[in-house]
Amino acid sequence: MTTNLWKTLVLLAVPAGVAGVAACTRPADTVSGREIYQDYCAACHGDSGKGDGPAAAGLAKKPADLTGISARNGGQFPLVKVMSTIDGYTRREDRGSKMPEMGPFLQEGPVVMVDTGQGVSTPTPERLVALAEYLRSLQK
Ligand code: HEC
Repeated sequence: MTTNLWKTLVLLAVPAGVAGVAACTRPADTVSGREIYQDYCAACHGDSGKGDGPAAAGLAKKPADLTGISARNGGQFPLVKVMSTIDGYTRREDRGSKMPEMGPFLQEGPVVMVDTGQGVSTPTPERLVALAEYLRSLQK
């Protein structure tokens, strides 16, 4: 079930990815984290981010409630960790995770420098940053 769902998501994601390439020609500040969320995440995590998307019922593991990330993290939004989870870096360390690697869908377009701690700036796809900032705005 999970595999079939994932195949379906990939098929759905391909046209969206092509649209994303066209979107690169727009000025950077029009990259919408909300739109990216609706395209790639809402199916599992739900429109509101609470983990109640239409595809959630078919998953063995319930998608996380994305409105409670800060609450689960002592009141701080862990931007770098969130980006790492979305990208798939965290998943490569935690094989049990059911959260798909979304990095490949977010790479097209410009990169921006993000302070990832200890004074280190890391080039990060702008779409990934916009998406993580959108999740920050959903925190309760
Ligand atoms: C196929 C369903 C699915 C899709 C699509 C999906 N996720 Fe997830 N996500 C999950 C599941 C299930 C978890 C629960 C944790 C696990 O299994 O590791 C999760 C966990 C997460 C977490 C960790 C939350 C925490 O506090 O632990 C974040 C952040 C996240 N997803 C963001 C996203 C974003 C952003 C997108 C869109 C780019 C997305 N997810 C797309 C299923 C999905």
